[in-house]
Amino acid sequence: MINPVFERMAEQLLSTSFAMEDGVLEPEILDSLAKEALLEYKNGDFKEAHIGKGVAKQRVSEVRGDKVLWLSKHDSSPSLAVYWEYIDSFRTFLSDYFRVHLERTELHYAVYPIGAFYAPHLDQFRDHGNRVFSIILYLNKHWKTGDGGELRIYKGDSCRDISPIHGRMVCFRSDQVLHEVLVANQLRISLTGWMRRDAFTL
Ligand code: OGA
Ligand code: MN
Repeated sequence: MINPVFERMAEQLLSTSFAMEDGVLEPEILDSLAKEALLEYKNGDFKEAHIGKGVAKQRVSEVRGDKVLWLSKHDSSPSLAVYWEYIDSFRTFLSDYFRVHLERTELHYAVYPIGAFYAPHLDQFRDHGNRVFSIILYLNKHWKTGDGGELRIYKGDSCRDISPIHGRMVCFRSDQVLHEVLVANQLRISLTGWMRRDAFTL
């Protein structure tokens, strides 16, 4: 049976290279994903995020201030296992819909501490065209106007701001959609992934 969320997102991707849906996954799953991320963040398990090769380390904080925790499918909590299954079936769906090979998804939690942002960029600067779709699930239960941290999507001369509210999922073409994260005025949590063409290598 086809998931109507996948179908709607694929149609949006086809027409604008960007898709958004609210209320994905069960509320209990969203809550435990957010709780687990926060616990691991407080344990100090998150690392400073990196940017493309060749950029001096001291400049990284001028570009992005989030901290990340990379995730493995084979070492997941029950709620993360649900999410892996969800994005794997979405990947299969998108692969069929766009007739593109999507070998796997890489996934990390991201936390933006207060004051953090991510300057405008495309998601393909780190490699060579292997990232096809970026997919982000937001996990901020009490997000309100003024908390900042919007995802700003550029389209020509105009832009659109998207609040990182609990249960909202966005998906976009990694090579085409210029975007940034505006300054977060509250701790901002997300699960961010990329569907890739290539296999994992060490
Ligand atoms: C990224 C990114 C956007 C967001 O991690 O590359 O652009 O809304 N994230 O978290
Ligand atoms: Mn990005």
